Amino acid sequence: MPLSDKELKQFDEEGYVFFPGKFSPEEAALLKQEAETVYAMDRKEVWRESSGVARTAFAAHRYNEGFRRLGAHPRLIKPVEQVIGGPVYMHQYKVNAKAAFDGEVWQWHQDYGTWKRDDEMPEPRAMNIAVFLDDVTAANGPLLFIPGSHKMGVIDAGHDLETTSYPLWTLDRDKVAELAERGGCVAPTGVAGSMVMFSSLLVHASPANISPLDRTIAYLSLCHVDNHIRAYNREEWIAHRDFTPIEALKDDCLAELVAERQHAAE
Ligand code: SIN
Ligand code: MN
Repeated sequence: MPLSDKELKQFDEEGYVFFPGKFSPEEAALLKQEAETVYAMDRKEVWRESSGVARTAFAAHRYNEGFRRLGAHPRLIKPVEQVIGGPVYMHQYKVNAKAAFDGEVWQWHQDYGTWKRDDEMPEPRAMNIAVFLDDVTAANGPLLFIPGSHKMGVIDAGHDLETTSYPLWTLDRDKVAELAERGGCVAPTGVAGSMVMFSSLLVHASPANISPLDRTIAYLSLCHVDNHIRAYNREEWIAHRDFTPIEALKDDCLAELVAERQHAAE
């Protein structure tokens, strides 16, 4: 179903749109199980927090069937194509664990700031999709957004190589405070299966998860095929180099996998 005028207006003004329960509880539970399988793997794409628990699994669509299907799901590909205005390829795919007790912070940043500086992506014609695989609440390290900050272009940032295991171009506190004076600061929360579409220029972060509840979120970063990256400074499983347009699968592609797994377990 195409995005409504109201949703397009919200995206334009605030830089994000929240879709509660976009995926069913069964689809979300399947993907949560897939995430556990992936985090148990000993692979270079699975990065860990200082405690040893998983922080993120890059490129999980290449080695996990559930995440392969999510990566071409029409419920996210179609709205992104609508807003970006054409075919898209997968620039980056992460399944972030933000594990109970041990999930560490993500500093304030704009994703496009990193893609421009590190990968030479020409324009911010790229979009983020977040799919919640756990319930996300105020307690378990939700995403934080500064609404409207996507209208500020690429903001000055410093390369933070130390705070966490993942290097990021981060904004300084004065700038974040100034932006929040204008736009406020919000935390989109909701049940597992909810989806958020947010601009690659939107300023965002997330606090550590000291709660006893996991907060797993799959992030897909989709870029217009004409706007593909020009520099190959990062590993190809972090900043992908396959610019083939994604062809959306059928709407029941995940539901079919749920049924297959149920049959196999019987
Ligand atoms: C990100 O900004 O890419 C991840 C943030 C999070 O998982 O909380
Ligand atoms: Mn980000």
